This record gives sequence, structure tokens and C-alpha cells, in this order.
Amino acid sequence: MRFTQRNSLPSETAQWGAQIDLRNLPEHVAIIMDGNGRWARSRGMPRLFGHQKGVEALKKAIAFALEVGIPYLSAWAFSTANWKRPEAEVKGLMNILRRTLNKDLVEFHERGICLKVVGSRLNLPSDLLAMIEHAEQLTAPNTKLTLLINFNYDGRTDIIEATKALARKVQAGILAPEQITEEMLTAHTMTAGIPDPDLLIRTSGVVRLSNYMMWQCTFTEFVFLEKNWPDFQKQDFCNSIQKFQNCGRNFGQISA
Ligand code: IPE
Ligand code: IPE
Ligand code: MG
Repeated sequence: MRFTQRNSLPSETAQWGAQIDLRNLPEHVAIIMDGNGRWARSRGMPRLFGHQKGVEALKKAIAFALEVGIPYLSAWAFSTANWKRPEAEVKGLMNILRRTLNKDLVEFHERGICLKVVGSRLNLPSDLLAMIEHAEQLTAPNTKLTLLINFNYDGRTDIIEATKALARKVQAGILAPEQITEEMLTAHTMTAGIPDPDLLIRTSGVVRLSNYMMWQCTFTEFVFLEKNWPDFQKQDFCNSIQKFQNCGRNFGQISA
């Protein structure tokens, strides 16, 4: 959804329109939701409490995306490296996804959100897989916002799986190695059909990619925020977009 006439906008949208240019929004924003554990520990609480609060912060980010009209929002909820955490924390993170797919699904659907869970399906519990499938099928026709939850995801695995798919086509004799293009590999990644992120936000003061969308973030603008994810507010999202709009993207060319 693109807004051109400010005076016909809903009030919350118009409010953001006073701070950012609603005609020059990132099409796809990706978020590394980091710092839940530190947020909880600094309050003398268990790490899982931080993860639960993190869901509320994600809902604020989703609400903001809907208010301003960002078409694609990715949020990294569980990396393949996170399996190395204590079993109780891993279980807790699986349960948080279960709860979200259960409790929040109707609301997501009513708000026009198309939900996709992006990541490897290997090693995920079968009941969770069924819930993911149900959620994706139910919300597939929705067009207001595509919400991509990266779960059991990492960027290198994404590239490796795409490479395997291409290798199988070469092996089958339907593709020559010389014919492989950037677009072809993109079409075999887990984000096939989704535009590359224009803006990536990572919270908690950590300045690294940690194997997130390695292939997709080639020309992405990075914004690193000091605060931990549970403290993330709509205004932080707005400020990040302001930075994005002032950054001057060149894609290898020279500025006008
Ligand atoms: C991010 O918060 C959420 C996940 C990785 C699941 P962390 O759990 O990494 O929190 P910190 O970085 O330890 O504070
Ligand atoms: C990245 O955060 C993964 C998610 C936010 C889900 P981590 O906390 O796992 O990353 P590192 O270990 O600090 O690089
Ligand atoms: Mg972390």
C-alpha cells in the first residue's frame, strides 16, 4: 500500500508521515531481534521472560509496519546456531512460536497479514510443523503485510540449499553450469519471490550479521540500535526509517 495524499490518511499514519516520507519507504525491513536474555537478566529475571517480552515488541513492530504501509517485514526468532543453547531455553522458544501461532493467528489474519515461517523444516517438532502449515495456508491470501518469521534459519544454510537445488538440475541435465545466474540462485533461496531487505535493524548494541540473510543483504542499509529488543518501540522503527531515508543508496553507481 502506498500513500500519496496525506490528508486522507488514518491519524496514526499521518502522525508518522510528519516524521518520515511515506512515499519512500523500504519495501522490506528485516529485524535481528537481539538482547532478550540480557534484558531479562539485568532485571533479575530468567532469560525466557525476556523472550516473552520480545513477542510484545514484535507486535509493536508489526503494528508500525501496518500503520505506515511497509509491505514486507522479516523478524529473526530462532537461528540454527540457537540449538546450542540449554534445552530448556530451546523448548521455551519453540513454545513461544506455538503460542504465537495459536493465540495471535486470528488477529494476524483479521489484520490482513500473510504469515510465512522461513527456515529449515528439519528438526522441528511435528506438531509445530502442522501449526506452521495451517497458519501459512490460512493467511496466504492476505496482502496488507507479508510477515516473515525466520525460525530455524541461517543465511549460509539458505545458500547451500539453493546451491544443492541447482546442482540437482545440473545433474539431471536440465541446466548447464554456465547458465547459472544470480537471479536463478535467488529463485532457489528460502525467500524466493520476496524482495531483498532494504533496511536491516539489529538491537542490543551488537554489530554483526550472525549469519542472517547473507545472500539477500548485499545492498541493505544496516541500522544498529543500542537498546535491547524488549525495549523496542514504534518510534525506534520510525527513527531507523529516517536514517534509511537519509543514507543515499548508490547500488555501486555515483550519486546524482
Ligand atoms: C535474541 O535474544 C533472541 C534469540 C536469539 C532467540 P538473545 O536470546 O540472543 O538475548 P541475548 O543476546 O543473550 O541478550
Ligand atoms: C541472532 O542472535 C539470532 C536471533 C536474533 C534469533 P544471537 O544472539 O543468537 O547471535 P550471536 O550469538 O550474538 O551472534
Ligand atoms: Mg543474542
